[in-house]
Amino acid sequence: KLTKLTGAAIGKGNFRHFMEKELHEHPVVIGDTLRRMVDPSTRGIALPELPFDFARIPRITISACGSAFYAGLTGRWWFEAIARIPTDGDVASEFRYRTPPLPDGGLGLLVSQSGETADTLAALRYMREQGQHVLSIVNVPESSMARESEAVLETMAGPEIGVASTKAFTAQLVVLACLALAAARARGTIGAAEEAALTGALLEVPGRAADVLEKDEALQAIAARLVQARDVLYLGRGNCFPIALEGALKLKEISYIHAEGYAAGEMKHGPIALIDPTVPVIAVAPSGPLFEKTASNLQEAAARGGQVIVFSDAAGAAKLKGIATETVVLPDVDPFVAPILYAVPMQLLAYLVAVLKGTDVDQPRNLAKSVTVE
Ligand code: G6P
Repeated sequence: KLTKLTGAAIGKGNFRHFMEKELHEHPVVIGDTLRRMVDPSTRGIALPELPFDFARIPRITISACGSAFYAGLTGRWWFEAIARIPTDGDVASEFRYRTPPLPDGGLGLLVSQSGETADTLAALRYMREQGQHVLSIVNVPESSMARESEAVLETMAGPEIGVASTKAFTAQLVVLACLALAAARARGTIGAAEEAALTGALLEVPGRAADVLEKDEALQAIAARLVQARDVLYLGRGNCFPIALEGALKLKEISYIHAEGYAAGEMKHGPIALIDPTVPVIAVAPSGPLFEKTASNLQEAAARGGQVIVFSDAAGAAKLKGIATETVVLPDVDPFVAPILYAVPMQLLAYLVAVLKGTDVDQPRNLAKSVTVE
């Protein structure tokens, strides 16, 4: 019989909150999850055998809730960009009632820390009825979703006690990135050299994430600024748009400050009306193909008096120097893995703000770790 580990049994060690402890587990969890999926001798992706062939999958449909959904959105970007598979994603509470027609032999992909979220489980059952292969990415291998799926990939995050997801999220991203690489290989959309380069980029993430966690002085200063704010805007593009969504979700969940995540290019269609000197604008802006586009959106925010807080690498930060109120310089990484690394300071920043506000970080009001009712 499996004994369920509880918060009391696990302990916080020297950390103030479970969330702080779990944030510091990012490097280990990312590494453990990668080790399950990368062959160290070839530096190639080596997944457990899956009951379908990616080369024959006409479409992927992703469904999940909360942070797990944002991991799924990042996955959508990877499946489309790297493996060239048409991919759709929707929050489970909408998906299950939209009754979308799904192509025969498509792949349904569910993402969940607990494996018990009611809406995601209903989405899974709907996908099965629609003749999809069903693959779940879960942190609890004995969960309902794992049991009802054709195949399961486990995130190696260990028990997550803080209500707001942290390390499970980055582990989900790692699994999705590896899955997209496996799909790309099966479909011949990337060659062996590119696969090895992208896998190498993934293997660097644990070390880079540890660097980010070590140097949190810049984040402390920004947290002190955010704690005064009533509204905060998070902007990102491409595979980092979901990280802007995750940053905003985390801030509202645990600090109760109103925050919105937006696709940077969509800002001019609404949120720009909110911008004044009291509204911090957080940019998730690693160097990469979409950097210049994001930079011009940030320019628009700065021109309207917005406080622009930039998260980028050294090259990106240098380009945005003239408009940034604050800058957090993150290690250089391949744009493919940037969402995984940039998720870490987003979550840590929300944590630092919540601590300054004195909220109940591990058990925020009105929220539950696992939502097993509709
Ligand atoms: C709750 C948690 C979130 C989590 C979401 C989905 O709302 O507070 O942190 O992202 O459920 O949970 P799951 O277990 O399906 O990942």
